Amino acid sequence: MENKYCAIYLSGTGNTRFCISKLAKLLDENAPIVAIEDSAAVSAVKAYENIIFGYPVQYSNAPKMIRDFILENKELWRGKSVLCVATMGAFSGDGAGCSARLFKKCGAAVLGGLHLKMPDSVCDSKLLKKSREEKLDIIRRAEKKINRAARDIKSGKYPRDGLGLFPHLIGLFGQRLWFYGNTRSYSDKLKIDRSKCVGCGVCLRLCPMKNLTTENQTAVPHGRCTMCYRCISQCPQKAITLVGEEVVEQYRLENFVQ
Ligand SMILES: Cc1cc2nc3c(=O)[nH]c(=O)nc-3n(C[C@H](O)[C@H](O)[C@H](O)COP(=O)(O)O)c2cc1C
Ligand code: SF4
Ligand code: SF4
Repeated sequence: MENKYCAIYLSGTGNTRFCISKLAKLLDENAPIVAIEDSAAVSAVKAYENIIFGYPVQYSNAPKMIRDFILENKELWRGKSVLCVATMGAFSGDGAGCSARLFKKCGAAVLGGLHLKMPDSVCDSKLLKKSREEKLDIIRRAEKKINRAARDIKSGKYPRDGLGLFPHLIGLFGQRLWFYGNTRSYSDKLKIDRSKCVGCGVCLRLCPMKNLTTENQTAVPHGRCTMCYRCISQCPQKAITLVGEEVVEQYRLENFVQ
């Protein structure tokens, strides 16, 4: 008998949503696919034994919102089996391992870990920027890896990306330790250029953390940013930055594949 899954994900610029949706549909065409900020996420976890759980890697760590979701709902995980999926622009070491360790602490069984390289989402940095063709090629490779993983999983072999001691050490010493300050708590570093903002409210509606409000027709952040880059990638005025000082390229997966 086929396993039944539900899929839960956080996605800022669409990469993780795309990957998780593809994988979930291949494993169980009826799997509910729920964004983590959706109020249905908790009831989906309650209703299903097998969970595909996806997020974008940030500085070789899981986003703060992801870590909080796992720990704030720790009573949910006992008896569940979780496949941890991490998308990344280049490298993480143990991106999937970061949530896998938390799930284990909360009593879940970890089915496996899957790492998927996707186009970089950091819209306000020149690092890792690629041409349209190169991005399409990266997405195609990720799709192939998802297809392979789904085939293996169906025959009982789960991928082990990012799990175990060696990836843990690479993630820790390769990046997480040096950048831990960036992911320890929610960020209060989001900047909104008041001279560009027209108070359209797009960013308010998009934010999974409800971190933004408007005052005097200008968006204002409130220090609860999980650094997903959703607002930055979609502000029509390119008024929002976080890591850098200027929007270089508003990357969004939907501009590459449907
Ligand atoms: C704040 C921040 C930090 C990131 N750190 C890493 C990293 O350490 N390693 C990496 O390979 N990609 C990193 N990325 C890139 C994203 O993980 C990657 O583009 C991901 O697929 C975005 O997924 P999304 O579109 O679902 O948000 C980072 C992105 C952001 C916004
Ligand atoms: S999306 Fe941009 S222009 Fe619109 S309110 Fe937010 S910051 Fe201002
Ligand atoms: S403020 Fe922007 S970058 Fe931060 S969590 Fe909200 S949508 Fe994501």
